[in-house]
Amino acid sequence: GAPVEVDISKLEQGQMVRVEWRGKPVWVVRRSQAILDQLPSLDSQLRDPSSEEPQQPSYASNSYRSVKPEIFVAVGICTHLGCSPTYLPDTFSEQVNGVASGFFCPCHGSKFDMAGRVFQSVPAPLNLFVPPYTYLSETRILVG
Ligand code: FES
Repeated sequence: GAPVEVDISKLEQGQMVRVEWRGKPVWVVRRSQAILDQLPSLDSQLRDPSSEEPQQPSYASNSYRSVKPEIFVAVGICTHLGCSPTYLPDTFSEQVNGVASGFFCPCHGSKFDMAGRVFQSVPAPLNLFVPPYTYLSETRILVG
């Protein structure tokens, strides 16, 4: 499949833009500083906080799992059985105490933080996949 260009110039904090790459949904989310600040504090609740599992781009192996901290790019497919999780920017705390926002898979209840890192004690075995991508400019990303 061809690489897909994403314009993030109008992406506001908390917003997500969805594109399709190789038949898969790819999410691009602009994270607030408050979200970024919270990510490291979640590590003890996560299955693989440093994304040490294989098949991740090197820039996914940190708490932010992104090239630039504020812009999160992930394949929007649950690593359990392939449903597409729901982005909950405001109501995720109903799923995970004290965590303001994240991704919730309605199929079997898997929960992922704002870096796509899977919480413990849910069916999904792995963090959300981070696709290969590069910045063409400050406001344009090329996925693939
Ligand atoms: Fe997402 Fe099962 S497919 S929890």
